[in-house]
Amino acid sequence: MVTTITSSQEAIDLEEKYGAHNYHPLPVVLNRGESVFLWDVEGKRYYDFLSAYSAVNQGHCHPQIINALIEQAKELTLTSRAFYNDKLGVTEKFVCETFGYDKALFMNSGAEANETAIKLARKWGYTKKGIEDNKAVIVAAKKNFHGRTTSIISASTDSSARKNFGPFMPGFEIIDYDDVAALKKALANPNVCGLWIEPIQGEAGVYVPQAGYLKAAADLCKQHNVLLMMDEIQTGIARTGKMLASDHEDVHPDILILGKALSGGVLPVSVVLADDEIMLVIKPGEHGSTFGGNPLAAAVVVAALEVVNNENLIENAARLGEVFRDRMRMLIEKSDLISSVRGKGLLNAIVINDTSESETAWNLCLKFAENGLLAKPTHGNIIRLAPPLVITEEQIHECCDIIESVVLAYKK
Ligand SMILES: Cc1ncc(COP(=O)(O)O)c(C=O)c1O
Repeated sequence: MVTTITSSQEAIDLEEKYGAHNYHPLPVVLNRGESVFLWDVEGKRYYDFLSAYSAVNQGHCHPQIINALIEQAKELTLTSRAFYNDKLGVTEKFVCETFGYDKALFMNSGAEANETAIKLARKWGYTKKGIEDNKAVIVAAKKNFHGRTTSIISASTDSSARKNFGPFMPGFEIIDYDDVAALKKALANPNVCGLWIEPIQGEAGVYVPQAGYLKAAADLCKQHNVLLMMDEIQTGIARTGKMLASDHEDVHPDILILGKALSGGVLPVSVVLADDEIMLVIKPGEHGSTFGGNPLAAAVVVAALEVVNNENLIENAARLGEVFRDRMRMLIEKSDLISSVRGKGLLNAIVINDTSESETAWNLCLKFAENGLLAKPTHGNIIRLAPPLVITEEQIHECCDIIESVVLAYKK
């Protein structure tokens, strides 16, 4: 029998009993979203300051995106790539022109897109760079987050992502993030086919590298004939106040990896973009996914990217990001509970002045929720604050008022 939920506690109890315990959610049960708002089953309204880890940049249930979904769902949802469909090519062209690449390869989750990028870089390494069979190395950064598959966690330095999940896939060298000297050393190895990084480390706690790091990485990759594989799954699609975070340093990665907001959070769509000499190393039958490039996803992607342009989300994120950080800096003057604020555009984090094992960040998020704002700690004492990019200046101020009043009233 299917149960209808009548209270938050009931939903929490069901998930606890029947769902795997692979997440630790805040005790809030949501059943509706619109623009920057979410509602719980009791009807309480919240500002969303997580945006499903930056997947809902265009705001919840954006009418134009939902309309594209509904219209396409009535026509055709899935053919598999055994046949052509009339939407995929159109979307591939649109995405290639938007980001400046020759070819696009659609997948579903972000992790799958990263897997695709790994295979692409390795195969390019063997067939174009001339790396000896099975010797290819991909250089990744400490504290990275690229997803949860076994090969991706093989490059992770987060013990909770790795412990008891070995053995791991070989072929990764892990270096410090934001360290040009480490890059110089690692990329000199002739077996390196790719440098795989995030332009801002989101999950690590919105760690923004020093200005010039991405440019130096791109230059060193060129110098050593290494592919720059940029994971913009969290930072891309206007989140940081540019279409891509790489644009802040005019860097054009060899392999661009996108997901999340590519569909406005409506369904899982990811894509890997590259030019012909890289993408065409993959031949028919060597890679794919039943749902990858389905017409439903293809229709949604076009609508989601149109919303970004039509509603000036890049400019909004850039402008309101400044407003937000200014407000947080003013708060830091008034309270020693927050030690810093960092970020770009509307991808920001506040660092709580406490040990990383303390419950303070979690408790603050509970208080934010009580006061109508949803956010979640990332890595102990850091709270990521990333609202949908359709937020207005007035709403940003209202949210800063909530954050400020909770922080100033908070007693450890
Ligand atoms: C930078 C980055 N890469 C990859 C992923 C994984 O994406 P998915 O959860 O869709 O597999 C995430 C998810 O948070 C991410 O932030």
